[in-house]
Amino acid sequence: MERTLVLIKPDAVHMRVVGNIISKYEDKMLDISHIKILIPDRELLGQHYDEHRNKDFFPELIEFMSGGRVVAMVLEGDNVISEVRKINGDTNPNKAAENTIRNLYGTDLTFNAVHGSDSPESAEREINLWFENI
Ligand code: RTP
Ligand code: MG
Repeated sequence: MERTLVLIKPDAVHMRVVGNIISKYEDKMLDISHIKILIPDRELLGQHYDEHRNKDFFPELIEFMSGGRVVAMVLEGDNVISEVRKINGDTNPNKAAENTIRNLYGTDLTFNAVHGSDSPESAEREINLWFENI
């Protein structure tokens, strides 16, 4: 069974749409195996977004992500990595297809509501960062 890490970002938690977002995944028959809510520290976020460390948007991204509660969860199901990225929509909410999570709840490239791992390798790396011993 494939698994992926999903983060519901501080903008969406602040909007109180956590339930609506989780329903989007459950409607597609994906299962939650682990879930928690936390304010992530900069060290965890630095590791999570390591590939973006030298990008212009990195400081703003870390500022945003450490500024409020994040829901972290592991979802499992067939093709869950690509399924989640389809349900999430384009990284840029202004380009995201109708009814995707980013179309419904995202604002711009920073405030884009959710994260989903982009490959099996990223998923395992990220799950190990956010959850211990699972
Ligand atoms: P994610 O990792 O959050 O699922 O999103 P993604 O794969 O679609 O996008 P990625 O390229 O991995 O970028 C990670 C996050 O960095 C922020 N970002 N900001 N201001 C900008 O130009 C910019 N570009 C990317 C977004 O929050 C994106 O989700
Ligand atoms: Mg990504």
